[in-house]
Amino acid sequence: MSGAGAKVGASVKPLDVLMPAEGMGVVADLIAEKLPLHRLWLEADPDAWFAEWGPRIHAVASSGPQAPIDAAFMSRLPKLEIVASFGVGYDHVDARWAGEHGIIVTHTPGVLDDEVADVAMALTIMAVRRLPQAERFLRASEGLNASFPLTASLRGRTMGILGLGRIGKAIAARAKAFGLHIVYHGRRPQADVPYRFYPSLTDMAKACDILMVAAPGGPETRHIVDAALLSALGPDGVLINIARGTLIDEQALIEALRTGIILAAGLDVFENEPDVPAELLALDNAVLLPHVGSASVKTRRAMAECVAANLVAWSEGKPPLTPVPETPWRGSWGKGG
Ligand code: 8YV
Repeated sequence: MSGAGAKVGASVKPLDVLMPAEGMGVVADLIAEKLPLHRLWLEADPDAWFAEWGPRIHAVASSGPQAPIDAAFMSRLPKLEIVASFGVGYDHVDARWAGEHGIIVTHTPGVLDDEVADVAMALTIMAVRRLPQAERFLRASEGLNASFPLTASLRGRTMGILGLGRIGKAIAARAKAFGLHIVYHGRRPQADVPYRFYPSLTDMAKACDILMVAAPGGPETRHIVDAALLSALGPDGVLINIARGTLIDEQALIEALRTGIILAAGLDVFENEPDVPAELLALDNAVLLPHVGSASVKTRRAMAECVAANLVAWSEGKPPLTPVPETPWRGSWGKGG
């Protein structure tokens, strides 16, 4: 196999799509409007289903990290050509293996940047100014008779962004408007970016007050934020994560929050979702959200439309719209040819 996309044209319309796990209803609904959809979670005997349908499935729609699309799963589908994944992060899909086996993987970039960046800023302000705690205080006390303790401030602070991709840049634009100084760390410095680049994440953690995690998940970034890095961030430091829980050593973070090694954290994602450790829930200096970065009706619909559009394009013999870098389009249709 010469690379991803080599099998284009082999699929016979209509393209049968397999969805392994139930996600947001709109994803399945939009696909089913256009293509035959097999909902694996409704099958009483999945093995029997694979025996009958496996060789006839050319496409998979992944609703997210709850069902890993790994080599073992994809191997059960010998004619698989495309995996269309819901979400910009696709660490639950073995894209490298897919690329090596001529399978295209698509994701949903671009449509959720602003939504996630809004939540990143909200978490930042909530964690620094202790707004959830203040609201709980008001509800638990009688009106405004008692005063809530003064908090830390965003004024004069530096935000260090780990991962200055589309979402990182959308966060930077917002943070700049809030008067924050922005610096960043990533695999390489970027041209045309007005922010200082730190080649060393540790040096950036030492230099910043708010560490914003916006880099992809996966083996390469696992526990990139560990006990040593949290120490570098320091006792006035605030950690925000809107990316993937796996980037942070959660036990080290719990310890750092508990002992004042850092000041506070704001988290939208967790290391072992859907579980959130009880120790984290018990901490007063952690602001916790249930992975809602992109979770507006409008944005989730746009993401679902992107999944469906990739599958429909493929069923019509056209190039995938938003392939991931590990499976670049190397076919011969349209502009991608
Ligand atoms: C979604 C996300 O909640 O896009 C991502 O990578 O984490 C979120 O927008 C998730 O993909 C839905 O399963």
